[in-house]
Amino acid sequence: DKGGWSSFMAKEVSEEPEAVANTLRGRIRDGAVTIPELDGLDDLFTGISRIIVIACGTAAYAGMTGKYALEQWARVPVDVELAHEFRYRDPVLTPDTLVVSISQSGETMDTLMAVKYAREQGAKTVSICNTQGATIPRESDAIVYTHAGPEVAVASTKAFVAQITALYLLALHIAGLRGTLSADEIAVQAHELEAVPEKIAHILATEQERIEQLAHWMGDTRSVLFLGRHVGYPIALEGALKLKEISYIHAEGFAAGELKHGPIALIEPGQPVFVIVPSPRGSAVLHPKVVSNIEEIKARGARVIAIAEEGDVAVLPSADEVLRIPLAGPLFEPLLAVVPLHIFAMGLATAKGLDVDQPRNLAKSVTVE
Ligand code: M6R
Repeated sequence: DKGGWSSFMAKEVSEEPEAVANTLRGRIRDGAVTIPELDGLDDLFTGISRIIVIACGTAAYAGMTGKYALEQWARVPVDVELAHEFRYRDPVLTPDTLVVSISQSGETMDTLMAVKYAREQGAKTVSICNTQGATIPRESDAIVYTHAGPEVAVASTKAFVAQITALYLLALHIAGLRGTLSADEIAVQAHELEAVPEKIAHILATEQERIEQLAHWMGDTRSVLFLGRHVGYPIALEGALKLKEISYIHAEGFAAGELKHGPIALIEPGQPVFVIVPSPRGSAVLHPKVVSNIEEIKARGARVIAIAEEGDVAVLPSADEVLRIPLAGPLFEPLLAVVPLHIFAMGLATAKGLDVDQPRNLAKSVTVE
């Protein structure tokens, strides 16, 4: 039931605040992170020397985002791998490797095969999944459910923010067990997480219409580029995937630092480029670098759409449009910056008269290899 929305995707984007809130529910108490599903399973986390995150598509971008938090908070080296690449390259797995799989459906064949393989090789496995009783969680040593609710549209939206939320909870849980963050430090991050749903709701309330308008004007666009740095990088990839998937427009996401290593050659007058700008307070080093990327592409005629924190005036001279997100700590910005990109992809597909819920050639869950 679309509940009065024009599409399941529109409904599901509107549910992004609840997806995060429901994934947090019952898992933060007085600033401490307690994941009841992981009770009695400390051994899975205390002796590990590395983490490998495996997933496909949007879930893999959630994994790439989670890597920053896992490494920063839990101080464990993390690799993120596409499940289909991982499985067929004879990866080195030891009993002190923790494999974290991420899947909305819990039925993605490539991810399932990778989890089974990891287990056979003796690795420990934790699954982050949105579907109760699905196959991947049944094949894993432990499960952390995302509580995004059923996701019907082929394009994953609310599950993505729920996956990042679950990974952050897991990262804080591991950090607590390993003693890499103090109880006070965990409380600060947990508090930031709890503030996310309201901030997403604020973006939906203040920016949605403007973004849809922008998408409408861009109905004839043939190519869109997305740039991001640090946690903004996987968000750039997610923005590009969503646009390809539902509006059939060529889109590429790049790490902003790569610009001079090739992608800047693509910039010609009128080329739309979304740039995810890190907070000037939170990322004093990276903010000016991304602003200078904006100036470089603007000088070559790009049409720059910046996603920037409220009050960041440094982007104003060179950006054609600025989409605003509320203030948040650096690791929490991706949970906000992705929202305008989901709205944009949906707006552009709608402007082109396409079926946003059932894009051509795609299935909601890919149960074949
Ligand atoms: O169910 P899963 O999370 O395992 O699915 C993984 C991908 O197939 C999925 O995220 C896909 O990339 C989406 N259609 C992207 O919007």
